[in-house]
Formats: sequence, structure tokens, C-alpha cells
Amino acid sequence: DVLKGSTADLVGRRVVVSAGGTREAIDPVRFIGNRSSGLQGYALARTAVARGAEVTLVAANVGLPDPAGARVVRVESAIQLREAVLAAAEGADVVVMAAAVADFRPVRQQATKIKKTPGEPEPIYLTKNPDILAELGETRRKRREEGRPYPEVIVGFAAETDDVLANGRAKLARKGCDLLVVNQVGENLAFGTPDNAAIVLAADGDPVEIPRGPKEDLAGIVWDLVAGRLV
Ligand code: CTP
Ligand code: CA
Repeated sequence: DVLKGSTADLVGRRVVVSAGGTREAIDPVRFIGNRSSGLQGYALARTAVARGAEVTLVAANVGLPDPAGARVVRVESAIQLREAVLAAAEGADVVVMAAAVADFRPVRQQATKIKKTPGEPEPIYLTKNPDILAELGETRRKRREEGRPYPEVIVGFAAETDDVLANGRAKLARKGCDLLVVNQVGENLAFGTPDNAAIVLAADGDPVEIPRGPKEDLAGIVWDLVAGRLV
């Protein structure tokens, strides 16, 4: 079904897709996490395999079976996701950051389980995680000066609740990516559901509106836009 109507426009292309949501450890048994299911990232990976790409899927805490034909690297935290994505991005043509990366992590990870003691609990202090997408954009900008700009296409995802276009545009510029897929949050869309709706913003060009539909369809449109940018 995925293969139906698919083209071979990604043959010989190396693509990296991150999926799922990172977990930031508090102690050996607890973490700060998010609601990302990994469904959209997995749909992107499956579709890219079907279109002939060599796919590395960096999966953060996804409870789904490995997509056939993709190399899967499983990670837990944002730091681990960064390592895996940056390593796979070396020599890759495309990187798609569909993972929900935690913006913050606990400053300190307790080595042993935090016990309930009399009185109020200790606060958990947070620190910022590295921005992987911005780092990819920055790395490419530097490489452009050296005449070897890659990855050729960098795609980010974002969920915005208000001022979708303005916030999306600002984020696209800030991250230095080529395409930003802005999910429309709410009305049972996005998290854990088979459907998605989005607006794809491009660094150069008009926004493309993707109506509500299966995540597989959105994946197909994203790869169409990516393929159109590959020389
Ligand atoms: N992202 C990333 N590293 C982070 C945070 C986000 O690579 N530390 C990537 C996500 O994978 C996504 C894109 O950046 O592709 C946008 O994520 P989003 O959370 O919308 O952006 P932020 O810059 O974190 O801004 P916000 O304050 O809106 O959360
Ligand atoms: Ca964020």
C-alpha cells in the first residue's frame, strides 16, 4: 500500500529521520518526557525506503516495530539523539528532524532512586538541551564556506498553537533549515493519532498546505518537496 504510486526518486540518497520523543532522566526510574508517539517519523522512514532511499531512523522511545529496510538506532535522551543524528548526518543528503526533543533536562541525574522523605521534595533544576536542528543548520552554513554544503536538505517539524505562520517563519529562519513542517495542534490531531494536518514553510517560496489526512500522506508530500530540492 505504501508502495502504491510511489516513485523511485530517492534512489541512491542517504536520508536520516529522527522520530519519537526524548526522555530526560531524573533518577534511575524516572524521566521527563513528552507525548510524541513516533508515528509521523516512522511514516517518513517507511515512505523514504519505499522511494528507494538508504534510511537511518533515529528512534527515541518509540513502541513501534522497526520499519523494514531502514537502519534503526534507538536512543533515549536528547544528548544521545544528538550524537546519533550528527553521526548519521555525515555524508547524508537529507536530515528530517521529526523527533520531539526535550528542550530541558535535569541538571543532575540522581544515581539512586529519589526517596520520599518527610517534608517537601527537593526541586528539580533544569538546564537547556542542545538544539540539534539549529546545529545542523549552522554546520551546513560553515561547510558552505568550505564548498561542501551538506546535508543538502534539512527539514524541521514544529507544533504551533497560535500565530502559526509568523511563529513558523521565525523558527525556520532561526534554525537555518530548508523546510519546516508546522503541525496544527488541537482537535485530536498530531499526538498518537493516525492523522495529521500541516503547513510546510520553505526558506524560499510559498507555504504548502497539507489537509488533514493519514501521516503516510503527509510523509509523501514532504518527500515530494525534499526530492524537488535535491540536485
Ligand atoms: N529540535 C532540536 N533540538 C532541540 C529542540 C528542537 O533539534 N533541542 C528540533 C525538533 O526536532 C523540531 C524543531 O527543532 O524539528 C522544532 O522544534 P520546536 O520544539 O518546535 O522548536 P524550539 O526551538 O524548541 O522552540 P519552542 O520554544 O517553540 O519549543
Ligand atoms: Ca521545543
